[in-house]
Amino acid sequence: MKICVLPGDGIGQEIVDQALRVLEKVGEKFGQTFETTEALIGGCAIDAEGVPLPAETIAKCKDADAVLLGAVGGPKWDTIDPAIRPEKGLLGIRKELNLFANLRPANLFKQLADACYLRPDIVARGLDVMVVRELTGGIYFGEPRFDGEKDGERFGYNTMTYYEHEIRRIAKVAFEAARKRSGRVCSVDKANVLDVSRVWREIVIDEHKNYSDVELSHMYVDNAAMQLVRDPSQFDVIVTGNLFGDILSDAAAAITGSIGMLPSASLGEGNPGIFEPIHGSAPDIAGQDKANPLATILSVAMMLRHAFDMTDEADCIEQAVEKTLEQGYRTGDIWQEGGKAVGCVEMGNAVLENL
Ligand code: IPM
Ligand code: MG
Repeated sequence: MKICVLPGDGIGQEIVDQALRVLEKVGEKFGQTFETTEALIGGCAIDAEGVPLPAETIAKCKDADAVLLGAVGGPKWDTIDPAIRPEKGLLGIRKELNLFANLRPANLFKQLADACYLRPDIVARGLDVMVVRELTGGIYFGEPRFDGEKDGERFGYNTMTYYEHEIRRIAKVAFEAARKRSGRVCSVDKANVLDVSRVWREIVIDEHKNYSDVELSHMYVDNAAMQLVRDPSQFDVIVTGNLFGDILSDAAAAITGSIGMLPSASLGEGNPGIFEPIHGSAPDIAGQDKANPLATILSVAMMLRHAFDMTDEADCIEQAVEKTLEQGYRTGDIWQEGGKAVGCVEMGNAVLENL
């Protein structure tokens, strides 16, 4: 199994280091070997090569069976030419590999219930949402786009576009995912205003004909944002476009207590998937051994499950993480009174021990 590792910027390297230790240990335990190779993406690639996504990185990713990514970006590159911002590296590799389906599970570890931002009576109803975000289309990539001037003043626009085939294939992923969960899909759009959303809704409804065992509902995105914080237990799978999914997945993650806990998988067809924490590069704590490596470690579990069909190995990692939380180990982002305060490396050590 070949894995291309893209540590990226900020805390990227430190969290990926811990995740790779976990990967190696789980390999030893189950008799699997993982061959890893590293490549540059984001700000570090801009510094070294002048572009956020060097051709060599694309080639190495395409040559691998899966990609493990840390995070990209930081204040150092905030004022750079927008055409080569670090984020362009991330968007570029998703597009290059045609990873149109982004799975972002947000569930609450019971050990972290007290860290949850919601009222205890709301938390008690449960929180286990899977955001299925369309990742290679919509307003992120739509043409035309413009950043310039018109009529003597600054002027800009982007275009939200969706072809039927793009909607159909992401709807399929959502319905399939729901079948393995509680069997409910909520499609989120803005069909009361946007034409593109009306097309979205129509195609989702049409594709649903192939999944009549799954319950389908629809919600406008503003309402969905509100419902997510009011009563997340009503959701199972949320399927939505690129921009709405970006926003709702952060909201879904944050209500679980920390964005530092949640992994993600970006999948396509015929290309290796990318597995990465949903949080960013946290430049404010980079290099200080403070970052929470658990989202990246859980991303390795998602990689084993989705890319390699290694269910036992994935379960093993997830259980080791739970046990580590059970034992009270806490990085700063999830720290509570009475917890054992640890840094990134110590958190990694604890997970290794529990493996
Ligand atoms: C994410 C991030 C990216 C996105 C940024 C860094 C380009 O916010 O993965 O959610 O908007 O997709
Ligand atoms: Mg985001």
